[in-house]
Amino acid sequence: MSPAATLASAALAEAAGAIRRAQRVLVLTGAGVSAESGIPTFRGQGGLWEGFRAEDLATPEAFQRDPARVWRWYRWRRAIYGGCEPNPAHAVIARMEPRFPEFLLATQNVDGLHRRAGSRRLIEIHGTIDVMRCSVCSERAPWPDDAVPDADPVPRCNHCGGAMRPHILWFGETYWPGVLEHCQRFAGEADVVLVAGTSATVWPPAALALHGKRSGAFLIDINPEPTPISEVADVHLRGSAGALLPALWDRCSRP
Ligand code: OAD
Repeated sequence: MSPAATLASAALAEAAGAIRRAQRVLVLTGAGVSAESGIPTFRGQGGLWEGFRAEDLATPEAFQRDPARVWRWYRWRRAIYGGCEPNPAHAVIARMEPRFPEFLLATQNVDGLHRRAGSRRLIEIHGTIDVMRCSVCSERAPWPDDAVPDADPVPRCNHCGGAMRPHILWFGETYWPGVLEHCQRFAGEADVVLVAGTSATVWPPAALALHGKRSGAFLIDINPEPTPISEVADVHLRGSAGALLPALWDRCSRP
């Protein structure tokens, strides 16, 4: 075995040992976990739409200026998600869940793939593409496939007639009450925080991992690239979530 392979295998064994001993596990995921399902990561080139960056469209101001354009962008994203399936990373995280007395999956992804893979103890901290919400009275409704016909791209609220918007946290908005607090409490008492596929550039979610580590959790990061989390992690497993999560879980089940 090459020195690099020996190191990687030792890191995998160390991470697996921590997971085997854990009673309380927090998993934090980002766009990289869905990359192998065919969904472009958030900041990648594929995330561009008609020359606009997500940061120009996912804002309350953009919606106020041109709600139809924002809806077209989300319809485009939703069409991509609809054509994708959960990958082995989603599947392993769903399989991990019932094996721990306390388990929480906090995902930044809005694509619904964790739910489709079977995860239930799940918080979609940035919302979900499957729900829309009234921009006036906050009434929520499922987003059925035919809810946004081409002729009228801005659906209306059944209660107050206000413009519906996707139930997704936009740039410049604050997190929904209680969501971060719940995750933070969980992180503060976690034995293991397992992070996968996030660049850790959005601070509140990244801070959850660091809070867990400061409070005594064993911190594992899975990412092909270094990130602010991998720099302080106990173990950085460098590579793709679709390959490394199954390898890690397999290692956990071996003595
Ligand atoms: P990013 O697009 O910022 O980062 C994706 C990360 O996934 C990068 O660090 C990649 O190196 C890594 N990656 C790519 N392929 C991978 C693979 N196969 N396996 C594992 N990792 C892989 O996405 P996020 O960190 O999720 O927020 O972005 C966080 C938030 O920024 C998003 O939820 C969104 C955006 O602002 C809101 O919309 C509120």
